[in-house]
Amino acid sequence: MNILILFGSTEGQTRKIAMFLRDRLEKAGNKVRLVEASEDMDVDIAMFDRVIIAASLHTGDYQPAVVAFATTHHALLNRMDAAFLSVSLSAASKDKEDVDGLANCVARFEADTGWKPARIEHVAGAFRFTRYDLMKRWALRYIAWRKGQSTDTSHDHELTDWDALARFAAAIASTAPLAPAR
Ligand SMILES: Cc1cc2nc3c(=O)[nH]c(=O)nc-3n(C[C@H](O)[C@H](O)[C@H](O)COP(=O)(O)O)c2cc1C
Repeated sequence: MNILILFGSTEGQTRKIAMFLRDRLEKAGNKVRLVEASEDMDVDIAMFDRVIIAASLHTGDYQPAVVAFATTHHALLNRMDAAFLSVSLSAASKDKEDVDGLANCVARFEADTGWKPARIEHVAGAFRFTRYDLMKRWALRYIAWRKGQSTDTSHDHELTDWDALARFAAAIASTAPLAPAR
């Protein structure tokens, strides 16, 4: 298959996830185009059999370039086997508040863009303490402390479940129509 992976990433974890998916999908014999979302992208999505659009949450919002792309192409995306991969810290949580919060963020993304993805995949991201400025480091350290995660800001802490991501890649590489993950 001919597969597009388009992603937005602020601190780099979604880029790493997108590259992992590209490698898996290429190994399975697919042709993959990996594109970072920006204002001057030239992408014809009609050329692809499958599309993965990935973005990460920052204070409840996804990267504006991803939202703009999904809005522009929502009509075609709605007719395609197209998946939305949402990267967040809440995806690692079982707390009702986090689960409901995530559902609200995705519902707002769908309402804003007009795109109802065939599949939505929630993926846990990372605390990338080494990339944050002082303010972000303290804010995310506080969140880590509240969530019982490591508060050692001298290292990044990855919560991404790479095995689950490999299973998602296998579902994308399969010729069966995309089914909702949950
Ligand atoms: C300033 C900031 C705000 C964030 N806001 C949220 C949020 O509202 N909900 C959430 O679940 N995760 C939030 N996160 C966690 C990110 O989604 C997570 O770190 C993710 O791995 C970032 O992906 P990226 O490196 O591709 O940008 C936030 C992280 C930062 C640094």
